[in-house]
Parts: sequence; C-alpha cells; structure tokens
Amino acid sequence: MAVQINPSILSADFSRLAEEARAVEGADWLHVDVMDNHFVPNLTLGVPVVEALSRATETPLDCHLMIEDPDRWAPQYVEAGAGSVTFHAEAAAAPVRLAREIRAKGARASMALKPASAIEPYEDLLPELDMLLIMTVEPGFGGQSFLDIMLPKIRRTRELIGKHGLELWLQVDGGVSASTIERCAEAGADVFVAGSAVYGTDNPEAAVRMLRHQAEE
Ligand code: DX5
Ligand code: ZN
Repeated sequence: MAVQINPSILSADFSRLAEEARAVEGADWLHVDVMDNHFVPNLTLGVPVVEALSRATETPLDCHLMIEDPDRWAPQYVEAGAGSVTFHAEAAAAPVRLAREIRAKGARASMALKPASAIEPYEDLLPELDMLLIMTVEPGFGGQSFLDIMLPKIRRTRELIGKHGLELWLQVDGGVSASTIERCAEAGADVFVAGSAVYGTDNPEAAVRMLRHQAEE
C-alpha cells in the first residue's frame, strides 16, 4: 500500500496561493478544500481558483467539495482541472450517478463521510469509487484536533475494501500530524491530508517528507 501525502491548501497563505502550491512539489496531490457556507459554516474558493491553481502547479489537485448539491457542481471541478473530486455522502442526492459522471469526465471519483456517518450503508457503492475519505474532524476548518474515535471506522472500512477485493484508496482528513499519522496508517489509511502540519511549519517540503516517513514505518 503506497503512502500518499496531500497537503491542504486551506492552511496556506491565500495571498500567495500559486507560490504556496509550488512549495510542496514533493507531495502526491494538493488537497483543495471547497466550502460554500451552507454544507459547512465556512467559505473558501470555487471553480475559478481551482482553474488557476491547476495552471500554477504540476501537482495534481485533489478537490474536497464541502458543498450542498455536489450533483450539480462537482463536474465543473473536473473541467477546471481537478484530478480527483470528492463529494460528501451526506450532500449527494445520487452518489452512484455522480461518481460515474466524475469518472466519465476523466477524474478519480471519491466520496467523503463526516464523523457521524457510518460506512456500512455505503458498502455496495464502494466499487463505484476510486477513493473514500473518512473525516477525522468535523469538516469546516483547519487546525482542529484529530478524533481518535474515528480509528475503528478506518479499520472497518479497510476490512470492507479487502473483503470486496477493491483497489480504492482510503483517505483521512483532519488533525493528521506527526503525532496522529501512525495511528491512521496502522488502522489502514493510505492517503493522508495534512493542512496545519504542513503549511503551519517553516519548511512545508520537509514536513511532507517527515509525514511520509512516519506513515511508511
Ligand atoms: C477541514 C478540511 C481539511 C483541513 C485539514 O474541513 O477538510 O482538509 O484543511 O486541516 P488540518 O490538517 O489542519 O486539520
Ligand atoms: Zn479537506
């Protein structure tokens, strides 16, 4: 299971986004948090900024849509240059149709679960996805504390992936840092989003290397 480290641009300096995107060139993906003030109580950026970011960096974009009505808006993020688009299970009206549309447009399709959402109701959908995102904080803000109580869900999800013989990636997002990443990896996650643990340091590239090293151990 190859480890992937995806720095979250949410914790970067928004006045220097292009430069910040290029500051983590050793990263696997750049995680881009799209928030709409409705699905979560915060507002970040949308399609034009994703388009600009995709021109600014060679690193592929992993767009995490924390928005209402992803069925309507998600395809636009593929067109804007995202290589992976994550919608929330709680917000999608027709997750299978949406995942198929994202794939048909040429991006990886991914679905996210908030902390209170169980994986079990979605077991039959897993073959439609390229990645599943388990939130390890309540979505909306960077810099929150990791929720340890999500570890059993990560473990159960990894078991379901194995049971169905699927290739899909298992991403964790929220509070992932030097002190929590090993627990996530041990539970079965293989894609790690880190905002403050990367951009909150003086050397984002070194932080990515260190997190990768810890997750691989
Ligand atoms: C939170 C976002 C996260 C956030 C993570 O709702 O989805 O991607 O940027 O930030 P940290 O790593 O600081 O918890
Ligand atoms: Zn995110």
